Amino acid sequence: MSTSAAATGTTTSTGKQDLVTIREGSEENSIPTFKLASGYEMPVVAYGTFRSNPGEVYDCIMNAIKIGYRHFDCAHVYGNEKEIGKAFNDAIFGAQKLVTRDELFITGKLWNSDHGTDIVSKACDYSLNNLGIDYFDLYLIHFPIAWKHTGIDTPGWGQSELDNDTSLIDTWREMEKLVASKKCRSIGVSNYPLLLLHDLTCQANVPVSCNQIETHVYYQRESLINYCLSRNICVTAHTPLGGGNANEVWTNSSSPIDDPIVKEIAAGKENKNVTPAQVLLRFLLQSGVVVLPKSIKTSRMEENITLFGMNLSDDEMNKLRTLDKCVSYKTNPNPLESFIGGPDCFTDNGTDIFD
Ligand SMILES: NC(=O)c1ccc[n+]([C@@H]2O[C@H](COP(=O)([O-])OP(=O)(O)OC[C@H]3O[C@@H](n4cnc5c(N)ncnc54)[C@H](OP(=O)(O)O)[C@@H]3O)[C@@H](O)[C@H]2O)c1
Repeated sequence: MSTSAAATGTTTSTGKQDLVTIREGSEENSIPTFKLASGYEMPVVAYGTFRSNPGEVYDCIMNAIKIGYRHFDCAHVYGNEKEIGKAFNDAIFGAQKLVTRDELFITGKLWNSDHGTDIVSKACDYSLNNLGIDYFDLYLIHFPIAWKHTGIDTPGWGQSELDNDTSLIDTWREMEKLVASKKCRSIGVSNYPLLLLHDLTCQANVPVSCNQIETHVYYQRESLINYCLSRNICVTAHTPLGGGNANEVWTNSSSPIDDPIVKEIAAGKENKNVTPAQVLLRFLLQSGVVVLPKSIKTSRMEENITLFGMNLSDDEMNKLRTLDKCVSYKTNPNPLESFIGGPDCFTDNGTDIFD
């Protein structure tokens, strides 16, 4: 891995940055950070907020902050920003004063139907206002595709039409203006495949700080991750647990949490409390990838951030590498289907444009 990569961990035998080793034992309860290309530090474990419904997400965020999460992965299209904003506000300004704004790292995402050059800044303002904050630590283009605008309040979903007037670089230029106006500290992308990302890095004036992608032991995406890390683009893993039970129900696929090798590694650790979920998350951290697990259950939230008292050996890492099925769990809707027709990413032989 290039020495320009600025993660705070050490380099492993595979050449990737291990994001956890260096800080362990140094500061109790501190979460290691990844130094982004922008110069800002991102905690390497985040709390994911997708599929946390209004009505439950307020308590989740308050619990997550009490447990020690400081990095929160949000998006306009998740439909829960206002409730998350109320929790941030109460955590910062409430009687308990649990955190300061400066201690939080908050990510937002620009939705597909808000790519228009006259919309980007308004969409960012809209999300900031929902969340009750005046800047994003990180703002991402959610998908590399522009759909026709459907109103910021009513983001397009499903049967959307291509926006033929907005190219990805036009949208990126507007993202760059958000850094200049201090609405965003760092900017990046999500679900970008390697060649689109390379095209962007060749043109970007403000560095691409992050590519948030689906990755877990069943979908390891080595080339894309190596490319990102070699360019000091932080990789954040969405769906790091393979979507857990939610995906089993949704896609009828088996979860890596139930994989016999993952279970065997967890059971074989000296510390008998290590769980399969912790093995999956630690695998990504030791591969240089920041993790964004989501759970609405307090005990699992604790489990998913308690990752720093254990280590996966080279042998265990190698065993986990053999689990790669090189196939996406396809939890994201494929925007192609709505205007070109099937087969889409949800069918077995369908195209996944994010590969
Ligand atoms: N950029 C994108 O396009 C994109 C796409 C998808 C997700 N994301 C981000 O990534 C975050 C995580 O993705 P995700 O929610 O799809 O998948 P995930 O974190 O891989 O899995 C979440 C599922 O696993 C369960 N779970 C969590 N911790 C567990 C544990 N310790 N043991 C057993 N099961 C556990 C959860 O159930 P309970 O809640 O019932 O515990 C939930 O069903 C999202 O919340 C979002 O912030 C981004």
